[in-house]
Amino acid sequence: RGKRAFIAGVADDNGYGWAIAKSLAAAGAEILVGTWVPALNIFETSLRRGKFDESRKLPNGSLMQITKVYPLDAVYDRPEDVPEDIKKNKRYAGSSKWTVQEVAESVKQDFGSIDILVHSLANGPEVSKPLLETSRNGYLAAISASSYSFVSLLKHFVPIMNPGGASISLTYIASERIIPGYGGGMSSAKAALESDTQVLAFEAGRKYKIRVNTISAGPLGSRAAKAIGFIDKMIEYSFANAPIQKELSADEVGNAAAFLVSPLSSAITGAVVYVDNGLNAMGVGI
Ligand code: NAI
Repeated sequence: RGKRAFIAGVADDNGYGWAIAKSLAAAGAEILVGTWVPALNIFETSLRRGKFDESRKLPNGSLMQITKVYPLDAVYDRPEDVPEDIKKNKRYAGSSKWTVQEVAESVKQDFGSIDILVHSLANGPEVSKPLLETSRNGYLAAISASSYSFVSLLKHFVPIMNPGGASISLTYIASERIIPGYGGGMSSAKAALESDTQVLAFEAGRKYKIRVNTISAGPLGSRAAKAIGFIDKMIEYSFANAPIQKELSADEVGNAAAFLVSPLSSAITGAVVYVDNGLNAMGVGI
């Protein structure tokens, strides 16, 4: 039987989540996605109207099939955690069962189990502010959306993951080196995500035989990255300074993710794997 993947954090065809979905589909996996509730309508409409057909093309010429799109807001674990203003918000009112617990329950009801869990989402409302100017709420919101969201997803999905399965998330080198401009507590959130990757690798490995890794990806001009404002500079910097001088494509991250959730990497867990043209290995810019 082919593997089944749930990919959280796909809302257009530009980001790493989409590219990972494609690489997994090309390798024969069935694709389920979790899309942020406020972005759901436009994503589903664009999908239906064929706006993504060109980028749905797989290497064998067929189009990637997304079996089901689930609305998801990964900052809420259970219905009782959702505040009134969000419940009443008209971008949320049209969808239901989008807390992490409910999405895991729906996937269980619809499909019984999954093999692969992908976390490709992040959000930091104050990302453009230096850490020194970040509010407590902004910092905690970054950690909630970008770090705890992975803990919560794994916690709720791991009971329906088949033994031998794997999960992967996306991190950024700002966790361990100074990257001015990646503010609002996002650098802190990525540090937490990387540390949690190790602890969760132990816990999910021992209890469920599930592997947990994270990819430290180089810069990509995704929707989220454009919102930060410095992505063009980072892409230029990487091109100028990395050992491999080319622009990083989302597909390269997708392919590495496909390897890291496949049996080819059956002994790799708790790892941060750099997919960044080698930029992380440089000590100075040249
Ligand atoms: P993206 O915009 O394609 O993906 C981010 C997704 O997160 C969006 O689909 C957004 O709707 C979703 N999202 C935000 N808050 C959410 C929530 N509360 N619940 C559910 N979904 C939510 O952008 P990108 O850049 O591909 O981001 C994917 C991952 O890659 C993120 O973890 C990001 O930090 C990481 N990354 C990105 C790099 C870049 O240069 N673009 C570099 C290194 C890591």
